[in-house]
Amino acid sequence: MGDMEDLCVTECTRCPALVDSRSRIVNGTGPEDADLLFVGEGPGATEDEQGEPFVGRSGSVLDDGLRAVGLARADVRITNCVRCRPPENRDPSADELENCRGYLEREIDLVDPEVIVTLGKVPSEHVIGRSVAVTKEAGDLEEVRIDGTPRRVLLCVHPAATLYDRSQRETFENAITRAADLAAVDGSGGGQTRLDGF
Ligand code: URA
Repeated sequence: MGDMEDLCVTECTRCPALVDSRSRIVNGTGPEDADLLFVGEGPGATEDEQGEPFVGRSGSVLDDGLRAVGLARADVRITNCVRCRPPENRDPSADELENCRGYLEREIDLVDPEVIVTLGKVPSEHVIGRSVAVTKEAGDLEEVRIDGTPRRVLLCVHPAATLYDRSQRETFENAITRAADLAAVDGSGGGQTRLDGF
């Protein structure tokens, strides 16, 4: 088990465009031994400002989704495929995703979650390594090897998708429900608990 320092990138200049556009590096947040690890695409304006993933509008949707299944934001770990804000919120390039891959793999290795939940198309494709029709595949569980270790990955739509398309809200909520159930049923005792019925 590593410590917090291993989970935090404090200095990196691998992506010239992102070094220009970021005001800081946005590291993952939440318990180092969380059962659930949520992976987004990359920081937006609010995240870049505050230095924490999913603290803008998408973050509110994620927080609401977690609360609906009896989880608090503080119970789960939340991170991104890239840790620096892309200019004009464009998608991270293949090179940028690759440059940041090692940090994500290290976080997955140290946190060792029961389930990784990928929020949107970019993180889903990046983590499982194939193209994904995320609206159709949301809620599906995939087994993949990440850095040699088998991992369970639950595909999910991006929280922001629910803001533009209400029909995706149910898709999002169903996926979060499944993630919480998987982590609760298969958890080995540690991490969060759901207080169903309370
Ligand atoms: N969207 C993401 O993918 N990540 C964030 O941190 C915020 C919004």
